Amino acid sequence: MTAPWMIHQPLDMHLHLRQGDMLKTVAPVSAEWFAGAVIMPNLIPPITNLERLVAYREEIEEAVGHLDFTPLMTLFFRDYTRDELLAVRPHLLGIKLYPDGVTTNSESGVRKLDEFHHVFKIMEELRIPLLVHGESHGFVLDREKEFLSSYEFLAENYPDLTIVMEHITTADAVALLDRHANLHATVTLHHLLLTLNDMAGGLLQPHLFCKPILKRPEDREALQSAVLSGHPKLMFGSDSAPHPISAKECCGCAAGVFSAPVILPMLADFFDQNGCRERLQGFISDYAVNLHKLTLPTKQIRLDRQSWVVPERYDSVVPFKAGATMAWQASRIS
Ligand code: NCD
Ligand code: ZN
Repeated sequence: MTAPWMIHQPLDMHLHLRQGDMLKTVAPVSAEWFAGAVIMPNLIPPITNLERLVAYREEIEEAVGHLDFTPLMTLFFRDYTRDELLAVRPHLLGIKLYPDGVTTNSESGVRKLDEFHHVFKIMEELRIPLLVHGESHGFVLDREKEFLSSYEFLAENYPDLTIVMEHITTADAVALLDRHANLHATVTLHHLLLTLNDMAGGLLQPHLFCKPILKRPEDREALQSAVLSGHPKLMFGSDSAPHPISAKECCGCAAGVFSAPVILPMLADFFDQNGCRERLQGFISDYAVNLHKLTLPTKQIRLDRQSWVVPERYDSVVPFKAGATMAWQASRIS
């Protein structure tokens, strides 16, 4: 008999949990399977000070109840002083930079990077990682590609700054990762498995509409081969981003895919189909633990080839693969 497939301390390095009732619905889904997650700060208004960060962490802890789960908090990038960053440093994993207006709740983001030299210098000095939504304001399919020069600017000018290119989607971004020691990246489940055809190739699929937009087959191919090769700078970050059905199935659909319920079963299937089961542990946990030197709750997940059907709804939210049959099931062992 072969040994069961176990995953130790799975981590989601990019997660949107929202607040209020939505938080209560979605937080336990992630906390059931993950030992921790990097929590995005794009609330309304965004999290821009220590007080709000601590209050939000407490709200999350309450929502996950008895489940062992570490919310790794982030601040929304702005013009912080050294004293502010010194005070907040013990409480956060990194600071998330959004170009203004490129995605959900990013209106107060940054227009010109070079105006924030002093903040990047302080972050570099204090060893606070910079997490970046790397998209320009250009043509939607080219936005990530057009932002790559900004990543190079940051990587070259702040060599001691740890920079995470969030949710990369293109072959060009994968290639850039190898050119600068201080660049790292997260990859989502949906960008790893889908292309723009899945969202807009037939009848429009609003629940697959997200930022960055899904890309070309050759980009997906580059992501898949980098992830399956065990690239140690590529970490899993779901970008699971729930919106109520009323904000998705309407005119002016909000961007975001709620993938949290299906992450582990779908990754298990993907790594298994590609004959790379042993590579999942690094992608879903070890690379991130090493990069950020994390201490997390012990959590063991067993992956079994057993089918189950994804619910049509989680309260007001339609999940990725709603109603579909999964080939793998995840169970919590401890
Ligand atoms: C995210 C959201 O809804 O907050 N949406 C998305 O499409 N990914 C924001 C983001 O991470 O871009
Ligand atoms: Zn996101």
